[in-house]
Amino acid sequence: MELKDKVVVITGGASGLGQATARYMVSEKGAKVALLDLNAEAGAETVAELGEENAIFCETDVTSEESIDAAIAAIMGKFGAIHVDINAAGIPLPCKILDREGVASGLQKYATVINVNLIGVFNVMAKCAEQMARNEPDEKGERGVVINISSGAAYEGQVGQSAYSGSKAGVNGMNIPAARELGPLGIRVNSIAPGLFGTPLVKTLDPKVQDSLIQMCEAPKRMGVLEEFAHTCAFLAENAYMNGRVIRLDAATVMQAR
Ligand SMILES: NC(=O)c1ccc[n+]([C@@H]2O[C@H](COP(=O)([O-])OP(=O)(O)OC[C@H]3O[C@@H](n4cnc5c(N)ncnc54)[C@H](O)[C@@H]3O)[C@@H](O)[C@H]2O)c1
Repeated sequence: MELKDKVVVITGGASGLGQATARYMVSEKGAKVALLDLNAEAGAETVAELGEENAIFCETDVTSEESIDAAIAAIMGKFGAIHVDINAAGIPLPCKILDREGVASGLQKYATVINVNLIGVFNVMAKCAEQMARNEPDEKGERGVVINISSGAAYEGQVGQSAYSGSKAGVNGMNIPAARELGPLGIRVNSIAPGLFGTPLVKTLDPKVQDSLIQMCEAPKRMGVLEEFAHTCAFLAENAYMNGRVIRLDAATVMQAR
């Protein structure tokens, strides 16, 4: 799908990978972006940077259907269509199975992570697909593209990542059935499983932890640059033959247990 003047919805668009993708979509591709995020201050700042004519911010909780409905209404009101949906809102909250005393974890943390990272992705994908299905198909028969953000932790989660890894493996699992269901409507669904990118989420980690994670990157031995991620989103949106797949974008990283 050609991205110029298309409307790209980005959850988690006020920070990190989502925000970098919003910048890239506007500056490199001439697209319009809708940023759905909890962080209203950063969202407003990002819109001011990108220009009101190119961007809208909707304060949204991806776990709430009502909140997403309100965002979709605002986007349709401003731009009149949705063509691409990039689901990058996510939380890394660690969740051990047993605590130091050997007591089983309560369900709350686990459920919170699944709710944001997996149910949130389904929620926004479904509401965007509903709008995409109403688009006139382009010359290749395309009406929309969904890109869900998974993680390398879906494959090699570290100790304490049962919830996070489970949520991201769920995102990977949705890929094929979603591509099968939405394909006949002209909507493609792919996922990206990033390795280590230097976003606020990662920068909050102890520098020693950051360094040990960098050591697990095979080559190049560094964190990913945010534009490398944004570029991959654009590739998935533009290439009409990419469907139903998870791209690992991680410098051949194989995460160790700790
Ligand atoms: N940074 C990495 O190295 C890395 C690696 C693998 C996967 N990922 C995934 O990429 C995605 C983006 O990560 P990031 O590093 O840019 O994180 P980030 O913390 O910089 O950005 C995440 C954004 O999601 C928003 N958010 C959180 N919960 C939300 C909710 N309920 N509703 C709406 N918005 C919500 C936050 O406010 C924040 O702005 C996440 O899904 C993360 O799991 C990141």
